Amino acid sequence: MASSLLLRFARHWIAGETAESGIERVKHENSLGILGILNLLGEEIKSNDEVAKTVNEYKKLLNMISDAKVKSQISVKPTQVGLNSDFDYCVSNYLEIAESCMSHDNNWLWVDMENAPYTEQTIQLYLKVLEKYPNAGIAIQAYMKRSEEDLERLLPKGAKVRLVKGAYNEPTDVVFRHKDEIKKNFARLTDMLFAQQNFFAIATHDDYCINHAKDLKKRTPGASFEFEMLLGVRDNLKAQMVSEGYQVREYVPYGPEWLPYSMRRMREKKSNILLLGRSLFSG
Ligand code: FDA
Repeated sequence: MASSLLLRFARHWIAGETAESGIERVKHENSLGILGILNLLGEEIKSNDEVAKTVNEYKKLLNMISDAKVKSQISVKPTQVGLNSDFDYCVSNYLEIAESCMSHDNNWLWVDMENAPYTEQTIQLYLKVLEKYPNAGIAIQAYMKRSEEDLERLLPKGAKVRLVKGAYNEPTDVVFRHKDEIKKNFARLTDMLFAQQNFFAIATHDDYCINHAKDLKKRTPGASFEFEMLLGVRDNLKAQMVSEGYQVREYVPYGPEWLPYSMRRMREKKSNILLLGRSLFSG
């Protein structure tokens, strides 16, 4: 009972449990001028058989994107393709997916960023993928104190960065805790992205961070970037920004492993938790 209620609630942020549901969502978004990034839900996968299955799922997904002629990239979490078991194995899995992207019109491969114990290895694996495959990007989290140095290291190497605030519970020695500090760091890192030539993405629903990027765009008309947002969050704003002439992309997660992702989304807004609590207690 509680789990079916949770799923009903989680559906707010996921396309559904199948790849077909993800493709349908992207098709709908494309009809509104919004591009997609599909993500098969799943993280901390322990068995190599499961990892191999996940790699194949992404290859099938790339076929489906081509067959359906939808405009969508893909995004993959390191611990769904082996980072928690072996670094080289994980790199070889990303490279296999990158090969498949290459054979599908050089589609883009994004590397999601997970929690702090994986940050350095995720950057290292991304650089290995980038050496062979330029259409690859990495998420960098503005709540991490190290991110400014990470950008200084990554950008000269041609890295394409998706700037996000960060979604995990982390110890205070590695992250900024206060909302204002995170916003300020987000703005500082946005300045760094606008000051260089590589493509980048500003991935947030926060008006302050969005407006900061819009202001910089006025002063740097040549900057090559897009706004990215999550499925189920501020849908009206996505459409409005398309009408203002910005490139907007929606992150579309799908799959049966929806719980950890949905819990992170629920935590992000107090009213989500209150709403869930109310529905659980009222049956
Ligand atoms: P903030 O949380 O302050 O939200 C700003 C406003 O947006 C809120 O006031 C509310 O109106 C609305 N909002 C935000 N979240 C909501 C929710 N769940 N429900 C309802 N309203 C909500 N993180 C990470 O650690 N690694 C990653 O790889 C990625 N990848 C990623 C890709 C893309 C395309 C996006 C947009 C985000 C991520 N994230 C991520 C998640 C990111 O780190 C962050 O947790 C969320 O984007 C929420 O932060 P905001 O910047 O939107 O600000």
